[in-house]
Amino acid sequence: MTSENLRVKVGDLQLRNPTLLAGGILGLTGASLKRVWESGAGAIITKSIGLESRKGYPGPSVAQTPCGLVNALGLPNPGIEYALEEIKVARESKATLLGSVFGRNVEEFEVLASKMEKAGVDAIEFNLSCPHAEDIPMIGQDPKLTKNVLKVRDNLETPIWVKLPGNTHLSNLVEVAKSAEEGGADALVISNTFPAMAINARAERPILGHKVGGLSGQAIRPIGLRLVYEVYKEVEIPIVGAGGVASGENMIEYVLAGASAVEVGMSIIESGLGIFQEICEEASSYLEGRKIKDLVGLAHQNLD
Ligand SMILES: Cc1cc2nc3c(=O)[nH]c(=O)nc-3n(C[C@H](O)[C@H](O)[C@H](O)COP(=O)(O)O)c2cc1C
Repeated sequence: MTSENLRVKVGDLQLRNPTLLAGGILGLTGASLKRVWESGAGAIITKSIGLESRKGYPGPSVAQTPCGLVNALGLPNPGIEYALEEIKVARESKATLLGSVFGRNVEEFEVLASKMEKAGVDAIEFNLSCPHAEDIPMIGQDPKLTKNVLKVRDNLETPIWVKLPGNTHLSNLVEVAKSAEEGGADALVISNTFPAMAINARAERPILGHKVGGLSGQAIRPIGLRLVYEVYKEVEIPIVGAGGVASGENMIEYVLAGASAVEVGMSIIESGLGIFQEICEEASSYLEGRKIKDLVGLAHQNLD
């Protein structure tokens, strides 16, 4: 969906509208990525991809709760070589496409990022924040480690976005965000899912095969808004909000807090692919002729 007042830039990357497919949802095959683009998303993002294929955790890997979905997939993915073939297919649609990658250290990020760059993605998202893949270090909780993996930025032309954890330890999150900025990140994505679990009281045991996971959906939107709001005060680079965006109004909330765009995940699972168009149409009519880019951070205005 393209509407002049919804066009935004995240750093140097021009988006036809501010709704991005969230990493990990429908992002494994070229065909599904294309479908999301055709349904109106402003950009599409692959599932997070590592060097080698990973099976992920045994099921159940998702648990529906009254206030959101808890998942522990364990970063299942086919590995970078296979993913590159799917990216080729996705690129046939001329979509704005981001490759999401995860790794254990700077060397792994270097290989993954250079392969993504050669594949022609428009930006690379470093997933530094999966809350349940214990064998993959949660780099995004540590300012030094975060800056360290961004060393790879020097050898790349492609913008690097850094996806941070749902970290409510605000001073730490701000430190990490500043480190990412110092390290050369082109944008921050705030945030991944929040550490969570679901327990079946009757069976007296955790529901998920992996026991613990991450919460997504509308329950986390007020937390995500606060995180974006706090980080916006401290960095100059653009922020992409993620967490519980289910309507045009929700997207505007993130923009007012300081986000230039948003990722949409759970709402696709709940409402289907028409959600991108719905969000854009609602936001467009809310704007009444204004441009969405002019609303970024407006909730920070001093109203006294
Ligand atoms: C089933 C599932 C799988 C996910 N996989 C990934 C992933 O591979 N990489 C990633 O960066 N985030 C992943 N996420 C997190 C989402 O991209 C998003 O940050 C989070 O779900 C919050 O947005 P939402 O409330 O709109 O879903 C996943 C979320 C879900 C629900």
